[in-house]
Amino acid sequence: VKRVRTHHLREMKGRGERFSMLTAYEQYAAQTFDEAGIEVLLVGDSASNNVYGNETSLPVTVDELIPLTRAVSRSTRRALVVGDLPFGSYQASPEQAYLTAVRFMKEGGAHAIKLEGGGEMAPQIEKLTQGGIPVMAHIGFTPQSEHTLGGYRVQGRGETAERILRDAKAVQEAGAFAVVMEMVPGNVAAQVTQELDIPTIGIGAGAGCDGQVLVWQDAFGLRTGRMAKFVKQYADLHAVLLQAAQDFDAEVKAGTFPGPEHTF
Ligand code: KIV
Ligand code: NA
Repeated sequence: VKRVRTHHLREMKGRGERFSMLTAYEQYAAQTFDEAGIEVLLVGDSASNNVYGNETSLPVTVDELIPLTRAVSRSTRRALVVGDLPFGSYQASPEQAYLTAVRFMKEGGAHAIKLEGGGEMAPQIEKLTQGGIPVMAHIGFTPQSEHTLGGYRVQGRGETAERILRDAKAVQEAGAFAVVMEMVPGNVAAQVTQELDIPTIGIGAGAGCDGQVLVWQDAFGLRTGRMAKFVKQYADLHAVLLQAAQDFDAEVKAGTFPGPEHTF
């Protein structure tokens, strides 16, 4: 199996082929998605919500994300593993970003990192790429800036579409190998995708992007509750896991598990 590299994603874009990305935070999901042929696995700062039980991505730390990154990078043979820099670990300066990213590469085994921001992150993106660290940018709705953006809302509607295009071009110019666009109108994301040389990856950004990403617990139904409009549910893992746990519980209480076949 050949490892997916950043240039492969660019070549796929050149051929008009789409690629897929999912989050992953531990061994079995990572192995299964790798086996399925998902090109990119993101150890998202969404682990804050989906692993550590926080309400937002803001509280998660570098020290909490690095062990998850190590688990995912050890568990894949083909996928490109991207570590997501958490809130407060890169915004202060290019030097801070570099030192944080190095930890994700050395301790976590990440092949690339992702950070949130457009033109204002160009110095960070330049510093990392010049220092040998591939950078995936993330523009449009950026959850770490929730309190600046005024909540979860679509970015780049109407007049502000121009801002999305400017940010996309700025991160490409700074050296990013790909850019995530979150909650951007489909027509805007399609135009950005056409105008960029680097691949775009959409989440709530329509079918015109080069790749698509979803949080796996949302897409495969392990998480219950309110879902964003852009999430499609491909499975109901919550129901499967709940039933299995209830069956186990019932058999233990009835004394029917373990049976003779499970007993020495
Ligand atoms: O943290 C995350 O899961 C993400 C993706 C949704 C792009 O940043
Ligand atoms: Na993220």
